[in-house]
Amino acid sequence: MIVLAICNHKGGTGKTTSTINLAAALGLSGYRTLVIDLDPQSFLTRMVGLPEPPVEASSLMLFDPERTLKDLPVQQRTAFDVLPSSSMLSKAMRKLNKPTDVLWVKEAIEDAPDYDAILFDTAAAITVYSLNALVASRHVLIPVMPEYQPILGGEQTFQTAMMVREKLNPTLHPPHFLFTMVDARKRNHRAYRQYLRGRYGDRVMNAIIRTSTSLSVTHDDGSTVFEHAPHSRGAHDYANAADELLRLIAPEQLAETPRIEPDDPSRGPWKSITHLG
Ligand SMILES: Nc1ncnc2c1ncn2[C@@H]1O[C@H](COP(=O)(O)OP(=O)(O)OP(=O)(O)O)[C@@H](O)[C@H]1O
Ligand SMILES: [Mg+2]
Repeated sequence: MIVLAICNHKGGTGKTTSTINLAAALGLSGYRTLVIDLDPQSFLTRMVGLPEPPVEASSLMLFDPERTLKDLPVQQRTAFDVLPSSSMLSKAMRKLNKPTDVLWVKEAIEDAPDYDAILFDTAAAITVYSLNALVASRHVLIPVMPEYQPILGGEQTFQTAMMVREKLNPTLHPPHFLFTMVDARKRNHRAYRQYLRGRYGDRVMNAIIRTSTSLSVTHDDGSTVFEHAPHSRGAHDYANAADELLRLIAPEQLAETPRIEPDDPSRGPWKSITHLG
């Protein structure tokens, strides 16, 4: 199973947008995919058209010793399932202050046979929730915009992930960086890319996500750019990014997972995500 945390300690870098669209790309390619919203601000939950859930149906229940993921009612969207966040996560944070409180989510998802991929959306801060995501995950994706503060936040996030790997979760791989909201008209993109490549080498993904209005539109049924604007650059870029990510973190699953036939007309013009490049 792919378990991926999407993190950057800096806000507004495309974490939620990347979580939704990577999950959609995986889901539409045949991966049974669950998104867990661990951001108390619940933007992902809202962006996929879900109302504030009762606390018993929220991601806070992963912190209940009586429950695991399979006891919880996930919400179905067109391409993936969602375990929504609740504003109660903010209130509960004060009580989750023991060292062992970073282990809840790892234990809760251990028995999740229904999914090929679980993606965590996290808040722009080091909280007990983002630490739970890192402790539960095998991989981390750090979306970064080509600007000073997001890159700095991204580097701090890399250090946090490496600390978690050293102290709490030896199965966690070093993170990958994904450039988001790239505006080709701005010259400094190349400089930031060269800087990160110089420091982190091939942990910086080749795929980039360009600025695209198609990515800021939300739909009540949780359908994504792949359904409502399949020809857009947003659909193309996230299909490419999902394809590269799978080759990086789960090459064995690419061969194993049954995929939808490329000529299935319901899949739109981007066909298989492995055929874009
Ligand atoms: N490639 C893109 N093109 C255009 N707009 C984008 C793109 N990616 C994200 N956005 C917009 O930028 C804003 C921030 O994106 P998003 O919410 O995904 O970031 P975030 O890192 O999750 O933020 P937060 O730290 O607040 O959780 C949103 O309004 C989103 O619609
Ligand atoms: Mg967000």
